[in-house]
Amino acid sequence: MFWVKKPRLLVLLMLQAVAFFFFFQYLYGPRHCPGLAEKSGPMHVLILSSWRSGSSFVGQLFSQHPDVFYLMEPAWHVWVSLSSGNAGQLQMAVRDLIRSVFLCDMTVFDAYMDQGPKTLSKLFQWETSRALCSPPSCHLFKREVIISPDDCRILCAKEPFNIMEETCKSYSHVVIKEVRFFNLEALYPLLRDPSLNLHIIHLIRDPRATFRSRQRTGLELARDSHVVMGRLWDKLKNENRPYHVMKIICQSQNEIYKAAKLLPDSLRKRYLLIRYEDLVHDPLTQTSKLYGFAGLPFLPHLQTWVHNITQGKGMGGHAFKTNSRNAQNVSQAWRWSLPYNEVVRLQNICRDSMNQMGYLPVLSEQDQRNLSLNLLSPLGIP
Ligand SMILES: *[C@@H]1O[C@H](CO)[C@@H](O)[C@H](O)[C@H]1NC(C)=O
Ligand SMILES: *[C@@H]1O[C@H](CO)[C@@H](O)[C@H](O)[C@H]1NC(C)=O
Ligand SMILES: *[C@@H]1O[C@H](CO)[C@@H](O)[C@H](O)[C@H]1NC(C)=O
Repeated sequence: MFWVKKPRLLVLLMLQAVAFFFFFQYLYGPRHCPGLAEKSGPMHVLILSSWRSGSSFVGQLFSQHPDVFYLMEPAWHVWVSLSSGNAGQLQMAVRDLIRSVFLCDMTVFDAYMDQGPKTLSKLFQWETSRALCSPPSCHLFKREVIISPDDCRILCAKEPFNIMEETCKSYSHVVIKEVRFFNLEALYPLLRDPSLNLHIIHLIRDPRATFRSRQRTGLELARDSHVVMGRLWDKLKNENRPYHVMKIICQSQNEIYKAAKLLPDSLRKRYLLIRYEDLVHDPLTQTSKLYGFAGLPFLPHLQTWVHNITQGKGMGGHAFKTNSRNAQNVSQAWRWSLPYNEVVRLQNICRDSMNQMGYLPVLSEQDQRNLSLNLLSPLGIP
């Protein structure tokens, strides 16, 4: 009879409709659309460090990765243009510049550069960015190979400055190395900024090694040291200035580390502390950790390259000047080249931060020179 069959048909049709709905949901629903399910926008990584702490080396680890657009110390332009200010006064300008660069808005440099025709070479240390040495910036190299900054400086310097924006936008990762932050608080707004996906790699180094390395590059760093010290610069004797700069650096690195430990869980995941000494002790493992944190694959040619540059092997005559020596030996150089009395003075100045970060003091000159004595203690990573 019809009146019995009809409702059955109706139920059947309804069931079918419901089934179809779920089937389509399954096929095209949010779960299967990666763009909706997870954050698919670019990843932003800030390598936060201080001068002579191995940050150029870590910067290169990222710069040479074919998924990364990298800039080294873009805030140099802020400090040079506004050098009458001290580090604290310039901090907000530095932060705004970093934010713009992460978003590939390179017009921010206009404020800090001369008028007139602009080429890539106007940018501080532009040649350390493999991305600026390969398409679409420069067509003389391929994107997926290791590019030597020396070669790039010669071949790509004439490219127009505004190619940088297009280049930046063609990458999934934007990485900036910066040494001009002295606390983490200045970066909170960027960590919470929904238009950014900021991750921070905080790179530290034994202050005794940093100090020795700074001594050997004294003049180049003088202008920066002046900005770091502000008015104190004129009040201190020449021979005391390097120690005072180290005091500020040790304190600020320690403050950053302590502030990071206090971040809420959701933000603490976006902070990674790494000691330069651990990196050179086991470069492949530590690099793999850094890439993992940034969501980058450790490609085979990068593994060979990292092995090569940390073992002091050349790269077919194109070795990086600062990175191709036996990295671990270099990281210990302060132990035989710094006088013991300077080491003692530094250990007093930087006691708190050394303590926090697991750098053990030497208690005699004999201990300082004895390279079998390990001066690293394990780190309580936040
Ligand atoms: C690593 O070093 C070897 C031997 O010097 C060289 O043949 C090779 O091209 C290097 N590889 C990379 C990726 O640097
Ligand atoms: C480390 O470098 C020093 C000074 O250049 C040298 O005397 C020493 O033999 C090197 N040690 C190793 C293990 O390479
Ligand atoms: C150097 O340090 C090692 C490890 O602590 C120790 O066994 C050795 O006796 C020390 N050598 C000297 C000459 O102090």
